[in-house]
Amino acid sequence: MMSTIRPGHAIATPGSRNRFAVDVRDFLTQHPRQLPSRYLYDELGSALFEAICRLPWYPLTRAELRLLEAHAREILNVGVTTAIELGSGSGAKLSALIAAAGSGRGRLDVHLVDVSESALAQARGALESFENVRILTHETTYEIGLLESVLARPFPGRRLVLFLGSNIGNFDPPGRDAFLGSVRAALDAGDGFLLGADLIKPERKLLLAYDDPLGVTAAFNLNLLSRINRELQGNLDLDGFAHHALWNEARSRIEMHLRSNRRQRIDIRGADLDFVMAEGEMIWTESSYKYDPPEIVSMVERSGFSVRAQWIDAVGRFALTLAEAV
Ligand code: AVI
Repeated sequence: MMSTIRPGHAIATPGSRNRFAVDVRDFLTQHPRQLPSRYLYDELGSALFEAICRLPWYPLTRAELRLLEAHAREILNVGVTTAIELGSGSGAKLSALIAAAGSGRGRLDVHLVDVSESALAQARGALESFENVRILTHETTYEIGLLESVLARPFPGRRLVLFLGSNIGNFDPPGRDAFLGSVRAALDAGDGFLLGADLIKPERKLLLAYDDPLGVTAAFNLNLLSRINRELQGNLDLDGFAHHALWNEARSRIEMHLRSNRRQRIDIRGADLDFVMAEGEMIWTESSYKYDPPEIVSMVERSGFSVRAQWIDAVGRFALTLAEAV
């Protein structure tokens, strides 16, 4: 699995049903109706996301791994003594990076930040066999995990914060800029930041990535309704909704929605919510922003970094950007 928590929102503490109920009520009564994308990742949702990453139509994960492996030495062998991965998931990306960096690397403290206990355990397992690597886990949000990691710094050298998997794409622009600013604020000048972000590509390819022929992304999206039924005693009929992905060119984002196939009454007891959805009405569940390489450079530099390198995978149209705090 590539990552288990997603950016873009004030993150609820794991297992916080009350927060979920409050958010479901608040977001489903907005216009347009919506649900925060972080709630896509319950146990089944995380497994479905893992499957999405393996789909031939979703090239992001493989493109990023190719770039990490090709540039591992430039990324890690430059005095980095502390690596902090925000949303580390299974640890697959970091372990590919460390393996590809080879023996030139010195001692490394690795901080894994994720809200999923099982993902952290998996990541620890993936990284444990590396020599000279000490693993520290933080089962918490990006922001808290980053601060804990920085405060725990045990020996001199550069830090490198990794934010991969195009998780940045799930933030809206103001949230994204605030997040990048908080990463910069936690670091010292000279520390590094590695950002993986998906690039704009032809609409046909983007739509296939978010509406795959096997229906895995549709299941990932619809699972949010079954989570509401299970955790909040909802009456949502999954057959009454269809997955809908669209490319919003003006905003440069893929949007995922759940479209109501008919007029239906929705009752979610655990969120104290009862309303009618019209036929064709949608619930907006996720935005996934896509970028041009120069746009990534400017958003990173606006946040107080100087970009040192940017590598682009031509096949998957994905960018890895390495920057230094100034
Ligand atoms: C986690 N995040 C970067 C994924 C994305 O591409 O926005 C989540 C996803 N949604 C549908 N497919 C994958």
